[in-house]
Amino acid sequence: MSNFDTVIYEKKNSLAYVTLNRPQALNAYNVRMRDELYQVLGAIRDDPEVRVGVFRGAGARAFCAGADLSEFLSAPSPVVARQVRWERDIWGLFLSIAKPLIAALHGYVLGSGIEIALCCDIRLASEDAQFGLPEPALGIIPAAGGSQTLPRVMGGARALEMLLSGRWLGAEEAYNLKLVNRVVPRKKLITEAERLAEKIARFDPTAVSCAKQAVTRGLDLSLGEGLELEGRLAASLL
Ligand code: COA
Repeated sequence: MSNFDTVIYEKKNSLAYVTLNRPQALNAYNVRMRDELYQVLGAIRDDPEVRVGVFRGAGARAFCAGADLSEFLSAPSPVVARQVRWERDIWGLFLSIAKPLIAALHGYVLGSGIEIALCCDIRLASEDAQFGLPEPALGIIPAAGGSQTLPRVMGGARALEMLLSGRWLGAEEAYNLKLVNRVVPRKKLITEAERLAEKIARFDPTAVSCAKQAVTRGLDLSLGEGLELEGRLAASLL
């Protein structure tokens, strides 16, 4: 187990557990968490022992209540902010991981909390989960990929309604709108995520990785290009 300040990273057999760990601030995403998550994501990507990643939030109340508002607009300058982002593209890294990632979501899942969840492949929500995008109300837009990943998951019109109106979704509505795969009782959230992760981890990791890439990369391609990608990935397994 590696303990950072804001994240707990644990490996159990072939699963990697990433716990956002600032429960006193509802696991709000701050600069330190960004830097620590960057290291953790690199470990998941590069460690051949890790087959599936599971993301969750510490404490009873939240997966993540979004960007840390106490650091809001506190970068020394927009130029520095852009440079840091360029050097340490955490969202690009997240989306480039070819291993399956599962998000176990409870309580508040706001702003970058949703965006982290959207970087995962499968989202399980507990009945108490609440989803919202407060960015426009704060004069900003989602900038951790959410403006692109959300419409790919729920469709443009529904993503726009959620983003523009700032309306929050409960777990059932999030399920109906395809934002989450499944809603489970709070007590079963982690065990269900673990069970799913263990099942996937038993399969051939190369086949699993190819299947993920076929779908996630294929979503950005035309049907013809996607079929070519599928053919190449299938051939690589032979
Ligand atoms: N950044 C920094 N701290 C946060 C935070 C955030 N995004 N969200 C919650 N916290 C902190 C609160 O400041 C509070 O700290 P304190 O106990 O030291 O005062 C603690 O977490 C608990 O939050 P609190 O607001 O007291 O809980 P609540 O149940 O009354 O409200 C929320 C919960 C999520 C509705 C409310 O905290 C909120 O609106 N948070 C901001 C969400 C947001 O706009 N995120 C940014 C997205 S870009």
